[in-house]
Amino acid sequence: MEFKEVVKSRRSCRAFEPDPVPQDQLAAIMEAGQWAPSPMNALPWEYIIITDAKVKAQIREVSEAAKQAVLDGGGPGFAAKYDMTFLEQAPVIIAVVFDPTKKGLGDFFNQKHGALQAASACVENMMLAAAEYGLGTLWFTWFDPEKMQAALNIPENLEIAAIIPLGKPKGDVKAPPRPEPRIHCEGFAAPV
Ligand SMILES: Cc1cc2nc3c(=O)[nH]c(=O)nc-3n(C[C@H](O)[C@H](O)[C@H](O)COP(=O)(O)O)c2cc1C
Repeated sequence: MEFKEVVKSRRSCRAFEPDPVPQDQLAAIMEAGQWAPSPMNALPWEYIIITDAKVKAQIREVSEAAKQAVLDGGGPGFAAKYDMTFLEQAPVIIAVVFDPTKKGLGDFFNQKHGALQAASACVENMMLAAAEYGLGTLWFTWFDPEKMQAALNIPENLEIAAIIPLGKPKGDVKAPPRPEPRIHCEGFAAPV
């Protein structure tokens, strides 16, 4: 697949077939993650691979609680219809965690998010690599991070960048619209 096609074919996938993800593809997806940029090449991320139904059920439980919190707090109506079955349906879930202290020189000039930025680049690399194999992914964050850390035994000094369900997409996923880029020239001003 051409790069442009890979980028455009990546779609947030919220329904999966049960087919297992081949090990070589899973390895290649994580290798793509390793090639993401990071401050001083600190590679602040690590991966947790989840295939056990019991662990997936715990992930869903923590996420359903977050959905309930949105509903109880009068959040947007779509939340009631948001079906989290995919968290148990996806054959694999990859959690990407990172060490927020691995942020390069940012502390010297008030830039605090280098590690999260790097972990996010890692997540996107992985999602694009998955798209090349025709696999669906979702950058999933609808959970209380503390509760998800506890469910996955993640040490307190690390943070979660994303929970990524991964597998063969079930059905077609429609692309949400993408407007034209908002561009400014030579500094921020009214868009051209
Ligand atoms: C940081 C981040 C967090 C996201 N969290 C969620 C989430 O918790 N649940 C979800 O369904 N989608 C989540 N998304 C996916 C977005 O909804 C999705 O990328 C957007 O609607 C555009 O659709 P597309 O990815 O198919 O192009 C998240 C995306 C990002 C980048």
